[in-house]
Amino acid sequence: MIKLDVTKVAPFVSAETINGLAPRVAEAQKALEEGTCPGNDFLGWLHLPTSITPEFLAEIKAVAATLRNECEAVVVAGIGGSYLGAKAVIEALSNSFQWLVNDGKNPTILFAGNNIGEDYLYELTTYLSDKKFGVINISKSGTTTETALAFRLLKKQCEEQRGKEMAKKVIVAITDAKRGAARTCADKEGYKSFIIPDNVGGRFSVLTPVGLLPIAVAGFDIDQLVKGAQDMEKTAAAPFAENPAAQYAATRYALYNSGKKIEILANYQPKLHFIAEWWKQLFGESEGKDGKGIYPASVDLTTDLHSMGQWIQEGERTIFETVISVENAEHKLLFPSDEENLDGLNFLAGKRVDQVNKMAELGTQLAHVDGGVPNIRIAIDRLDAYHLGQLIYFFEKACGIHCQLLGVNAFNQPGVEAYKKNMFALLGKPGYEAETAAIQKRLGC
Ligand code: PA5
Repeated sequence: MIKLDVTKVAPFVSAETINGLAPRVAEAQKALEEGTCPGNDFLGWLHLPTSITPEFLAEIKAVAATLRNECEAVVVAGIGGSYLGAKAVIEALSNSFQWLVNDGKNPTILFAGNNIGEDYLYELTTYLSDKKFGVINISKSGTTTETALAFRLLKKQCEEQRGKEMAKKVIVAITDAKRGAARTCADKEGYKSFIIPDNVGGRFSVLTPVGLLPIAVAGFDIDQLVKGAQDMEKTAAAPFAENPAAQYAATRYALYNSGKKIEILANYQPKLHFIAEWWKQLFGESEGKDGKGIYPASVDLTTDLHSMGQWIQEGERTIFETVISVENAEHKLLFPSDEENLDGLNFLAGKRVDQVNKMAELGTQLAHVDGGVPNIRIAIDRLDAYHLGQLIYFFEKACGIHCQLLGVNAFNQPGVEAYKKNMFALLGKPGYEAETAAIQKRLGC
């Protein structure tokens, strides 16, 4: 089970302050459970893990098997919550050099529809031009420009390269049950489709087909992922004293109220980079509203100790750090001995590389605390599907609780519309005539 250590927060906020929040956390938990909180029509994630049945997982695995059998590459088209969870889990579980070591047993998983980079899309479609590829098109609304653009290109290319009949087999839609362009297209073309439940928002959707299908196509164990989340669902429903998600939420809230406005999620494993990206979306989009919210940032350590380390150690003291620590490495590698010892590192010879990494972690944590940075540590036993499932639900529950404490609706994202409105006005979208005129006037054109 995840271990949460908040003892290195003590010099900044006391254990009494954090524990004193227990009654408010209990109220927040109750509001989530009873559906009396703002955004209560989006609480489907709360009991999602324990509602997943073996039959449902079997259906996901069957579709994944078709894509695995028929495709050398599968492109996951989606943005925000419609791709980050899958990307995070796949990257965390994959060989770091999967591009180079792909033995043909697993299709290469690629991501698109999360940017509007012309070069990116050109290079992707060029790469795919001699590949047997499939597409998982993920969009709850079905109207997201980035994803719709990628899907238009990929659908056409897939049909041209593989023929209409095979395209039908290797294009899968994950979208709303009834609404949106992706639903209409899937129904019209006869694609296999999965539903994103109405009551689960994008950033809470990794344990729906949105995350489960790409992860299964990549060859990872979705049974264990779900099992980890199920176990954490039970733990995170417990009273404060036994509930790490509740304690993490309370600690963040106490730190925020003490002037720590930025949380830096740090990891010591390069494979966790996208877990941090997923985490940033979960917390950023959920709590950054009404002029409130902790700004979620991230660093990959020890890499970024040689770039951001200076700022963390001595910059403005408005930050706190949360470290995800993986207790056991999957492989064993010893620090080599060297006859000449020019770098003076022979004192490390024979030690596990992971032992050196752990001392870097501990040393950094102590240095940061000494430098005025409160430190939270979240430890998982190993980097596997089961523990990632735990971590995902742990963060989701903590996020839900923290938003209640802050007094914001965790489940909407009204601010995301502002850029879209301007972009559509600038591009002259039909129906935006007044906005187009106003923005042109503002820009003096
Ligand atoms: O968390 C969210 O709701 C958002 O990040 C969405 O996932 C994102 O905007 C993509 O939306 P859609 O799935 O409708 O294309």
